[in-house]
Amino acid sequence: MKVFEIRGDWGFDHLQLGTRPEPRPGAGQVLLRMKAASLNYRDLVVPNRGYGAFTGNLPLIPLSDGVGEVIEVGDGVTRVKAGDRVCPCFHQSWIGGAPDLERLTRTLGGPVDGTMAELMCLPADGVVKVAAHLTDEQAATLPCAALTAWSALVTYDNLGPGSRVLVQGTGGVALFALAFAKLAGCHVTVISSSDEKLARAKAMGADFGINYTSTPEWSKASREVTAGRGFDHIVELGGEKTLPQSLRAIRPGGTLSMIGVLSGSALSAPLGLVVTRQVRLQGITVGSRDGFEAMMRAIDQHKLVPVIDRVFAFEELKEAMEQLKRGAHFGKLCIRH
Ligand SMILES: NC(=O)c1ccc[n+]([C@@H]2O[C@H](COP(=O)([O-])OP(=O)(O)OC[C@H]3O[C@@H](n4cnc5c(N)ncnc54)[C@H](OP(=O)(O)O)[C@@H]3O)[C@@H](O)[C@H]2O)c1
Repeated sequence: MKVFEIRGDWGFDHLQLGTRPEPRPGAGQVLLRMKAASLNYRDLVVPNRGYGAFTGNLPLIPLSDGVGEVIEVGDGVTRVKAGDRVCPCFHQSWIGGAPDLERLTRTLGGPVDGTMAELMCLPADGVVKVAAHLTDEQAATLPCAALTAWSALVTYDNLGPGSRVLVQGTGGVALFALAFAKLAGCHVTVISSSDEKLARAKAMGADFGINYTSTPEWSKASREVTAGRGFDHIVELGGEKTLPQSLRAIRPGGTLSMIGVLSGSALSAPLGLVVTRQVRLQGITVGSRDGFEAMMRAIDQHKLVPVIDRVFAFEELKEAMEQLKRGAHFGKLCIRH
């Protein structure tokens, strides 16, 4: 079967097309014919072994997210059947319950082989059935970015109509956070480097937009949105440069979902504010299969459609990664198998 794999050594230069023997499902496993994949910021980190020993060993098939059709099931499989369309779970060992080290370590696209393969053989417990209204590319965007936003806003918080949420940027996680916060009836502020992207976010339902390039002190600018009260929840994707602003914009007792480090990962924030405002800093690592299934039910009920910026051919993986690096996208970049 055709695959993309990092072979020989780490680095983008070692990401190449190749072939591997076709896998067969053993007991408790399913064989998927992959239909589509999607990129996450993480997929730019993996080829440089950016997660250290947790990145895995070579050769490694990249990308965590995708969708496939079940074409064969092994002995004892009852959860899914041939013909079902399913997404592989990002955390292959986290079915439900609280995270622990064992549940968090078996992640697709490093250290476990990912979705850039024609066929994938996975435990039947590690897949989730897809809502019928989604195209393959739309379904392929859900396992990491969407579930991360869902975990932050729904699993780890208790938001509702009237809650004030701030979302950073207009990438994959951010636009899912916007969509889920609107489903919950929240008032949503989006910050972006681009006025044009802010206009698009407003067309999707964002209530307020701030350009963080022209207004770097966006915590002050956002005060009017919350009538001086502060945000109930901030989806923190920037890290080093955004955290100091977030700590000034969050309400006392509010939640900062610590998800991304797009502007750096060093901690240089006024930590006194965490104490005096009783801020809850909640680290998020994607989510469990139970969370994924709950999110899929919500997506199905509301016929929610993920925002896709562009779809690339399988062979164009490196072009897709270059586009992701440039950061000009709005929503998700996908691969058609
Ligand atoms: N912890 C987890 O489970 C988890 C899961 C998924 C992703 N992540 C992390 O979350 C982050 C976003 O991932 P993604 O896949 O959504 O990335 P993405 O699609 O590449 O989105 C990047 C967007 O973030 C915005 N951005 C960049 N720098 C910013 C800054 N300083 N302040 C505010 N916004 C900024 C930009 O939006 P504009 O162009 O609008 O300015 C950019 O387009 C990454 O750090 C990723 O590693 C973590």
